[in-house]
Parts: sequence; C-alpha cells; structure tokens
Amino acid sequence: MLNILTGKQFADKNLLEKIFAKTSELEKTYKDETVSKSLHGKVIATLFYEPSTRTRLSFESAALRLGAGVISVENARATSSDVKGESLEDTIKMVNGYADAIVLRHPEAGTAERASKVSSVPVMNAGDGGNEHPTQALIDLYTIKKSLGRLDNLHVVFGFDPLHSRTIRSLSQLLAIFPGNRFTFISPKSLAATPEFLEALKKEGVEVEVKDNLDGVGEADVLYVNRLQEERFEDRNEFEKNRKLFILKPEHLKDSKAIVLDPLPRIDEIDVAVDDLPNAKYFEQ
Ligand code: CP
Repeated sequence: MLNILTGKQFADKNLLEKIFAKTSELEKTYKDETVSKSLHGKVIATLFYEPSTRTRLSFESAALRLGAGVISVENARATSSDVKGESLEDTIKMVNGYADAIVLRHPEAGTAERASKVSSVPVMNAGDGGNEHPTQALIDLYTIKKSLGRLDNLHVVFGFDPLHSRTIRSLSQLLAIFPGNRFTFISPKSLAATPEFLEALKKEGVEVEVKDNLDGVGEADVLYVNRLQEERFEDRNEFEKNRKLFILKPEHLKDSKAIVLDPLPRIDEIDVAVDDLPNAKYFEQ
C-alpha cells in the first residue's frame, strides 16, 4: 500500500473495516486539539493537472490538520513546467526532492501508475482521466455504510455517464466484492459502460442491468449519480444532446428510502429541490 492507484487495492473487507474505524475516530476529533499530528514534519505535494474543488482541498485540509505542510500546483497544465514540455516523469522526480507524498490528478488514464514507477515517495491517484478515483470510492463506501449500515445486498443505481465516469468505475468495482449486490446502470445508449466492464462485474457475481430511463429508481437502496463528463467527450454536440436527458427530481424519490450520492460537482443531474430531502447525502459525504 505504498501507492494508492486503484480502488481494487481496497478489495479486502478487513482492510476496509480498519480504514472505516479510523475514519470514524477522526470524524469525531479532526477539528479539535486531540487529533494526532501524525504527519508533523512531513510535506505533501498536491499536483493537479485537471480542475478540482473537493479532492485537492480535502487532501490539503487533511494534511494540515494532521500536522503536515502542503505545497501545491493547482493548474499544472497552465502554470507548471508542463507548459515548457517537461515530462510527467521528470516532474515527479523533482517533486520527490520537495515532498514526502504526492497527490496527483491528471486527464490521462494511467498517469498515477506511471508516476509511481519513477517516484521514491508514495503517489496517490486523485483521478486519472476516465479511469479511476480510488479515494472518492472510499468516501462513497464509508457514506453508504454509515447511512445504511451495510455494504452487501444492496441495489445500487449508477447514472448517468458510466462510459466516462471514473468514480462509477472505482466504486462499482469495490462494491462488487460484497455479496448480494445488484447494479443498474442508467444512461443514454451512447454513454453506457463498455461490455468488457460489465462482464468483469458479472464475473464477480454482481447482477447487472442496463437501462435508459429513470422508471422505479426510488426503489433502489443507493442512487449514485454524477454529471456527464463534458471534458471527456470528443464531440461537444453529443454532450449538449445528452446533458439534460436524465435529471433526478423529487418525484423520483416519493416514499423512497434511497440515499442519493454524487461525487460532485453537480451540473444537470440532480434538481436542486432534491437537496432538501433526507435522501440527499451528497454534500455531507
Ligand atoms: N469529487 C471530486 O473529485 O470533486 P472535484 O473534481 O471537485 O475534486
């Protein structure tokens, strides 16, 4: 566990229980003086080649609260020596001299793994293109466990861009290790998850359904939705054509006990009127 590159690294129920127990402990103490300054004297580098609000600030907040210092490049494509043509590998080797761990977000799939191959300090994948977002998956799992008390025998609806969503990929692969889970993927046909990805989930024993409508979604246990990933579309017209096709509204949640999660940012996928319902967990998570 030197590097965090993929959600699959956490596919061990005992390990997840340990992480959740620690998270629960920190949740109670992180704002007061009793929290352990276990990172005192360390420096964490956040290197972001793609925009972020939550991931960069939450890593930085966590590092500071645990006593570490933080150095950050928040728009590395425009303000780092990437602009002059420096390779990712050379950049990582340099940052190794300044920091004890690197949190990396990059638009290309596989970059966290590439970085880890040349790095002498741990690399944490904060999102690599449409591939994975493992720490978001941990937050999602923790919220489901805290809200529903279990991670098995769940009906989870994923929408609305399974083709491009790295958070759907990471979370669904992790939830697949728990018995009795059933997934419904909702999207326009052109944004459906690849057959290879769905087959891999089925091999784990998950029952998988693919739909292009919101009928009956309120009967699920978890509604995990996120925006159409505009930056991953090759054709902008395709994005515009599909962006408002699926919007979760209060009428979908009438008499529903489903929890609604969204890694955010919210664009079109959830009507703001849902925010006031007890189902909404996306700001809390
Ligand atoms: N959840 C998430 O990755 O949000 P940001 O893009 O704002 O970091």
